[in-house]
Amino acid sequence: MPKLSRNAFFAITVIVLVSIFVSWIYQHNNLPDWSADEIKILQSLSIDKLPPLPKDHSNAFADNLRAAEFGRQLFFDERFSHNSKISCATCHVPELYFTDGLATAAGAQAGIRNSPTLVGVAYSPWQFWNGRSDSQWSQALAPLENTLEHAGSRTQFAHIIFTDKNYRQRYEELFGSMPNLSNKKRFPKAAAPVDNQELNNAWQAMQTKDQKAVNVVFVNMAKSIAAYQRLLQPASSRFDNYVDGIINNDAEKLKSLSKYEIAGLKLFIGKAQCINCHNGPLLTNNEFHNTGIISAARQLPSLGRATGLRIVLTDPFNCQGEFSDADSKQCKELRFVKTGDELIAAHKVPTLRNVADTAPYMHAGQLTTLEEVIEHYNLAPLAMIGHNEIKPLQLSGKEKKQLTKFLHSLSGPLAIDPKWLINPHI
Ligand code: HEC
Ligand code: HEC
Repeated sequence: MPKLSRNAFFAITVIVLVSIFVSWIYQHNNLPDWSADEIKILQSLSIDKLPPLPKDHSNAFADNLRAAEFGRQLFFDERFSHNSKISCATCHVPELYFTDGLATAAGAQAGIRNSPTLVGVAYSPWQFWNGRSDSQWSQALAPLENTLEHAGSRTQFAHIIFTDKNYRQRYEELFGSMPNLSNKKRFPKAAAPVDNQELNNAWQAMQTKDQKAVNVVFVNMAKSIAAYQRLLQPASSRFDNYVDGIINNDAEKLKSLSKYEIAGLKLFIGKAQCINCHNGPLLTNNEFHNTGIISAARQLPSLGRATGLRIVLTDPFNCQGEFSDADSKQCKELRFVKTGDELIAAHKVPTLRNVADTAPYMHAGQLTTLEEVIEHYNLAPLAMIGHNEIKPLQLSGKEKKQLTKFLHSLSGPLAIDPKWLINPHI
């Protein structure tokens, strides 16, 4: 090769390397300039914009702190199960933001759904991945008798409260005197209107007024647990500090996110369109969407909200039922509920607060890591049933990493005194 052209080759190589370096520096060190519209969006996601908890008209004890304390005791008490070994905290572990780290829950039997976080859940008008409950208290009734979860029975629970001095006193201070359950013929040790034949037979043999008395105790337990869960609220994360930094032009706070995370945030509210569903301070629109998640191995695809809607409308414990404290007009969510074919295989949009610490993901824990989640959205596969609302995103490898990194900035402490997170029974 002649000398000159070797020099030229060298010069070109240097120029290419320098320009790669400069563009790397540019991408890694330049704060994206946020437009006025983008800043508005960022503000709308900030924890400072979290409104006060909406009133739960169906639960007269929702904001009663003594009920919450009673609820905390019930939440952690393993006696409320078929084998005295399962409590709500078995699957909703405080240190894991009230999840369990498993793909699908493990209670009395192996479950089929992923245990969602309870932090911020009191803002959600619908409970469960398919929204089959319309309040926190009606939700809490379900796991207590579900054969996959606590597998207990309401009569068993009422007896525990009746015979435990501490519980009985707390219960009666809140709800008035307990029914006298000492007659075991009228109030069998275990009975409930559930699939289990033995429990169901025992329940059907009870007088209607005794069934009602037990139902009232069962519901009051759940209303107390709901009062406890209302306290489980998120506090500021690094993301919120960054937004604060933008609003108040605070150089220190602007350092809360790395350049890479900021780029991910830009994608989150822009090109990747996550904001369409994950919006507001809890990063959820509280609705149901079909995102084409493949069913878990050996499971039929979940019909999602299509099933949940059918169940909640006929649930005797819904907002319009006899055990609700709301008057029917206050049950707006239920009365004006959305229906339609798009609810087939649509699942509840989960909060993304603390999401880096609540793996695995999706309604049956189908995706193990956040990288897999981003790849899922990027490819947007055809839905097994219904219609996937997501379109492929065409993100580069680097963009996928940035988005993942950003999701890590959404973790933070809880906004309550840590004493509420302690199991009172150990
Ligand atoms: C065996 C594990 C297990 C136990 C025990 C358990 N849960 Fe859950 N929990 C789950 C799973 C799994 C789901 C999701 C189920 C579904 O959507 O079908 C869930 C859903 C919930 C939800 C709805 C959250 C949301 O975002 O929709 C709340 C609230 C909740 N549980 C509270 C409780 C309470 C209160 C108790 C105790 C009375 C309890 N759980 C006991 C596993 C469990
Ligand atoms: C069309 C609405 C919609 C859009 C857009 C959307 N999501 Fe979701 N997201 C959902 C729904 C619904 C689920 C639960 C799906 C399921 O379990 O079947 C979910 C679940 C998740 C989860 C799992 C959370 C958990 O606790 O299991 C993560 C993480 C997530 N989305 C991140 C994102 C990111 C990042 C984007 C943008 C690339 C995005 N989402 C775009 C609706 C949406």
